Amino acid sequence: MFEHNWREVAAGWLGEPWPANLTRNAAGEMELAGVPVTQIAGEYGTPIYLIDKGDFLGRAAAYREAFESAFNAIGSEASLYYAGKANLNKSLARWAHEVGLGVDTASGGELATALAAGVPGAKIGFHGNNKSLGEITAAVKAGVGQIIVDSLGEIDQVAEVAADLGVVQPVLVRVTTGVHAGAHEYISTAHEDQKFGLSIHAAPGAHDSPAMEALAKVLDKPSLKLLGLHSHIGSQILDPAGFVAAAGAVAQLRAELYRRRGVLVEELDLGGGFGIAYLPGDVPIDPGVAAKALATTIADTSAALGTPPPRVAIEPGRSLIGGAGITLYQVGTIKPVTVHGKDGSIFTRVYVSVDGGMSDNIRPILYGAQYHVELANRVGTAETQLCRIVGKHCESGDILVPQVRLPSDLKAGDLIAMAATGAYGRSMASNYNMLPKPPVVAAADGETQLLVRRETVEDMLALDQG
Ligand code: LLP
Repeated sequence: MFEHNWREVAAGWLGEPWPANLTRNAAGEMELAGVPVTQIAGEYGTPIYLIDKGDFLGRAAAYREAFESAFNAIGSEASLYYAGKANLNKSLARWAHEVGLGVDTASGGELATALAAGVPGAKIGFHGNNKSLGEITAAVKAGVGQIIVDSLGEIDQVAEVAADLGVVQPVLVRVTTGVHAGAHEYISTAHEDQKFGLSIHAAPGAHDSPAMEALAKVLDKPSLKLLGLHSHIGSQILDPAGFVAAAGAVAQLRAELYRRRGVLVEELDLGGGFGIAYLPGDVPIDPGVAAKALATTIADTSAALGTPPPRVAIEPGRSLIGGAGITLYQVGTIKPVTVHGKDGSIFTRVYVSVDGGMSDNIRPILYGAQYHVELANRVGTAETQLCRIVGKHCESGDILVPQVRLPSDLKAGDLIAMAATGAYGRSMASNYNMLPKPPVVAAADGETQLLVRRETVEDMLALDQG
């Protein structure tokens, strides 16, 4: 069991946003869990996704301990599910399970991966706003602990599949509270204009809210067990206020259901979205602070309503794997470009091309996400110069880091490390320009372990039927 706070693990930790066990050795070269990056690049090639295994386990344990102790303190419990969409392979699913977490899946493929890792069905949650009948059948057959139903039609489908298989399937109803959060703020609006969940607000003239309608429908199905309510408010949230607002709203809905139907559901799942540091100076959400704030809200609302507090579940993805991962690239072409600034200035921007790009990390171009990079194989001693890190794709928007100062002696063959790429890099990777997806390698205690091998051109061609 990891008793420590993950931020205190590493002796020579480089600080946020780097993984806990990323250090620089005496020669100035980065080492992940004691393995020099040149050794890793030599063995597996670049580009490469690297995972600090101890850091991932430490973050998972820190979240688990924070939520369990906060909810135990109010006489309740917390269960945690690692959100596989952030980054999933059999090893990560198994490690999450070994450290006491379930796995949250959002497609038949993610479900199959968790099951292949040996995660018991009962510890898996299954999501999706458009689950296919095949996916629903696979989930019910696997005995998943919770299917999060997302529409009225899906309730009929799951009920029918469960009835055919002669089982009672536990479900949560995904509701939308109107609370949206992301970055530093949250907003609350009564009416939602998005595809997920069922609103807790009735449409004008309607007798009931879509959420209440769905709950009534589930209660009428003998092959379904209404386990609870689910709410996910957004991603990369740095202020717990949004979570608190949403928790209060779902606790109210739970009490309303109790008043109207006499049913007190046991679980409120508050989803994922806990924010991390991407750049030096960013302050990630503190799991201890978030857990205490949520436990207080749940305790207060439940006491006011005269009901025992529910068990609370959360589904963190990014906050467990994001900061535990880095990407290692090799520098190729270096090209100084003279730029005429809008203010009339003329300056040089050095375009540094690396051997990956938007196919292994779409986030900069898709969301304008910002990342921190450093020279990894050595500490440059030369003065720094203004650089732009770009990929190798046939697209001028293939920019990983628009602006960064790197040593002017940077040369082809150097290695560049990009921080906090553990979440939504590999899982949103593509084969644009027929680039094979990089491997996923974990490092721990001075050793590396290949989790997912590098894709090959042959792998891609194998799909092509000619
Ligand atoms: N639970 C549900 C129901 C979700 O929809 C999500 C994320 C999570 C949990 C995990 O959220 P996390 O803790 O990782 O923030 N591709 C985007 C993020 C989309 C997240 C979608 N849902 C990105 O690269 O930032």
